[in-house]
Amino acid sequence: MNKNKIIAIDGPAGSGKSSVAKMVAHRLAILHLDSGAFYRAVTLTFLRNKIARPFNGPKVEDLLRCTEVELRQIGNTLQVYLNSEDVSTEIRLKEVTACVSEVSESALVRKIVTAKLRELAKSESVVMEGRDIGTVVFPKAEVKIFLTATPGERAKRRYLEMAKAGIDADLNEITYAIKKRDKIDSSREIAPLRQADDAFFLDSTGMTMDMVVDSIIREYNKSLNKSD
Ligand code: DC
Repeated sequence: MNKNKIIAIDGPAGSGKSSVAKMVAHRLAILHLDSGAFYRAVTLTFLRNKIARPFNGPKVEDLLRCTEVELRQIGNTLQVYLNSEDVSTEIRLKEVTACVSEVSESALVRKIVTAKLRELAKSESVVMEGRDIGTVVFPKAEVKIFLTATPGERAKRRYLEMAKAGIDADLNEITYAIKKRDKIDSSREIAPLRQADDAFFLDSTGMTMDMVVDSIIREYNKSLNKSD
């Protein structure tokens, strides 16, 4: 690869972005970045420091200034560090999940996370997943995918994922939380979740992970032919 490539995968909660992004990155031997993990780590800091809405002002700015979020690829997993502390499990707890959409509505938080994401992708090719990667963070990404699935299927996947990680979960609660997050994520003023005009729409309901990954790799290969 002679130029850094950005593969942007956006979509709602539980659409399978993380697993798919990880597999695409592995197949292409490039970096995988989960932008949601940054919003989750910031949310965890706010919870620990008892920061309530509105998430702006000098106190929040000070806290964000001394908050360092880092993703480290360790073996096959992406570990999330908050000021050098491994918070990979904690950021997935339901207390964090319940607040993360509201925290990510904050203009200040979005500005800081967006700058960090752009910085990380400066010197290498990446597969980056999130809500606004193809629309705001990298509007010129070489490949843009909008990945979705029905709310029922997404809730079921999230439930299985949590059960596998040993986290206590209730399917009805997850379905309710997913719909609530969809609503906040897609109706917020700044960088709402929406499909970029030039994104490839992929409904993964009833598709296997491999089928989804193959479709994305096909889009990636098409983009290489275009840039020849
Ligand atoms: O992908 P996830 O479910 O871990 O993301 C958690 C939250 O972070 C999601 O509800 C909205 C927010 N988010 C965002 O606003 N923009 C992104 N690019 C990624 C995540």
